[in-house]
Amino acid sequence: MTQALQTILDRHQINPTRLLQILREVQDAETWISPEAIDYIAGQIGLPRAQVDGVAGFYSFLYTDAPCRYRLLFSDNITDRMQGNMDLLPYLCEKLWVERGRISEDSLAFVDTTSCTGLCDQGPGLLVNGWAIPRITRERLDRIAELVLEQTPVEQWPRDLFEIEDNIRRADILLDNPMEPGDALVAALAVSPEDVLGEVKAANLRGRGGAGFTTAMKWEACRKAPGDHRYVVCNADEGEPGTFKDRVLLTRQADLVFEGMTICAYAIAAQGNNVKNFESVRGLLYLRGEYRHLLEPLNQVLERRRAAGLLGKDIHGVTNFDFDIEIHLGAGAYVCGEESALIESLEGKRGIPRNRPPYPVTHGYLQRPTTVNNVETFCAAALIAAGGAEWYRSFGTVKSAGTKVLSVSGDCARPGIYEYPFGTTVRQVLEDCGAENTLAIQVSGPSGVCISVDEIDRRIAFEDLATAGAFMVFDRSRDMFAVAHNFAHFFAHESCGFCTPCRVGTAMLRATMDKLAAGHGTLYDLAEIEKLDRVLHQSAHCGLGHTACNPTLDTMKRFRPTYERRLKSLDFEPAFDLDGALAAARRMTGRNDAGAHLTTEASE
Ligand SMILES: Cc1cc2nc3c(=O)[nH]c(=O)nc-3n(C[C@H](O)[C@H](O)[C@H](O)COP(=O)(O)O)c2cc1C
Ligand code: SF4
Repeated sequence: MTQALQTILDRHQINPTRLLQILREVQDAETWISPEAIDYIAGQIGLPRAQVDGVAGFYSFLYTDAPCRYRLLFSDNITDRMQGNMDLLPYLCEKLWVERGRISEDSLAFVDTTSCTGLCDQGPGLLVNGWAIPRITRERLDRIAELVLEQTPVEQWPRDLFEIEDNIRRADILLDNPMEPGDALVAALAVSPEDVLGEVKAANLRGRGGAGFTTAMKWEACRKAPGDHRYVVCNADEGEPGTFKDRVLLTRQADLVFEGMTICAYAIAAQGNNVKNFESVRGLLYLRGEYRHLLEPLNQVLERRRAAGLLGKDIHGVTNFDFDIEIHLGAGAYVCGEESALIESLEGKRGIPRNRPPYPVTHGYLQRPTTVNNVETFCAAALIAAGGAEWYRSFGTVKSAGTKVLSVSGDCARPGIYEYPFGTTVRQVLEDCGAENTLAIQVSGPSGVCISVDEIDRRIAFEDLATAGAFMVFDRSRDMFAVAHNFAHFFAHESCGFCTPCRVGTAMLRATMDKLAAGHGTLYDLAEIEKLDRVLHQSAHCGLGHTACNPTLDTMKRFRPTYERRLKSLDFEPAFDLDGALAAARRMTGRNDAGAHLTTEASE
């Protein structure tokens, strides 16, 4: 084992910032990360053992419990549920003779669930040792079970099992761009870095990762920040349930993504007006663990770009403009999509959001100026560099320039990827995707907003329905309480546990929703959820905590009857009925007088 470990460590130059990558590779080789492996890595890398152990324990796709040859995880977004994942899971357990959540006696298999795997348009999804398999059916599970029982290495499984479709249903200026690799970059390098920045500013580009921050402002702040090393980070963590557009952009438009990153590097690295005076700048792309199937193809694109002089030294002949990109793979933690948590993770640490300020633009990766943007934002920046701000602003609305790529899933005939100019109505999207009898749409995932069919003339735009891209459709056969219940479990599972309001609050929300689901809730519980939301908004450390109650409150507001019909009573009863709980004691002691009650009336 030591030799194999050392080889992995050497490949990563025994660098602590590569710790997550090292642990992933050790696990690939050994099927788990043993205590001995942790000892060895800690010793070699020069970190306290507790730190290495802490990192290994933080990520849900790193296993320190026991070896296991095949870990099979069913994606558990609400859309997977609608596609039957909860019937399929016990079927697979039975086939493999395993109990859900427990490694089989012979260390062969483990079956459980995981958060959304980004395959909502072709679910239910399954991960086998981290490799994604879409469109799970009983027939597919029969094949998978056979391969597991025969102990066929995953690399030798039939390729058709892993085929993921792009499902592009509507393409606009981004997905249908006629550019060749290098076109946008060459256009950018033909003008000064200030002019590039000026175009991005004039185009009014806003981030596509959710918050909608003005991109040029971020780039400018990073450029102006003191320091002689800068970083361009692409956020490809895409963990929001219902979102899968970055998966398709990275599959179909990888050159454009890398081009956008390189253009950003050009804009932020050049100091002063002298374009020959470039500071050192490096690129990092953080790819969510669920998309490990994209790692190799993306690395091939990077190789091709290096060979074409579009990455590396003196890019496209511009003296001293050196830039290259490295890909880091995540390991199953939604919170790592939050930009400061993502930076921590890139540094090989646990993905816990940092205190802000200072912001990444001045104190990001390794405390150096860093620009973090979403995959789609970099694509849009490349389009602007090639076509100019005026052209870009001719699409969309005055306040929301350009287009937005949506990931459409749920109750519709044609789930998949739809690119629209900003300002498009929800009605239009529903018509295009073949949705009928729609009841509700969850826009931008659980952390976004749930709207009812009465609101379908609202528009996809920053000034109305801002979205990172998820668009989950629910028809009239669906119970919106069940949707919110699933999301409450998601947030509780994904809370990183760093701050008490979120750690406790998301667990309380989950418990309250479980209680309502079991028919034991009262109006008091509904009021408690509203209170919890206020606490989380005021005191949670990051956006995960702030938004955790959103889906519950939205559905409670718009679909109140689905909550009320679950209530034990419509009276305002406290969460815990202490007097009721004492009933057993009264029966045992034969007492039922007023003194044996917390209330004055004898009630039994
Ligand atoms: C819990 C949480 C998860 C997030 N996940 C993502 C993500 O998967 N992808 C993303 O681009 N931004 C995500 N964000 C937003 C990022 O923090 C950041 O705003 C974004 O990457 C900036 O890029 P943009 O300006 O191009 O949108 C997340 C934020 C939070 C609070
Ligand atoms: S709000 Fe939640 S996810 Fe964010 S830091 Fe606190 S515990 Fe972690």
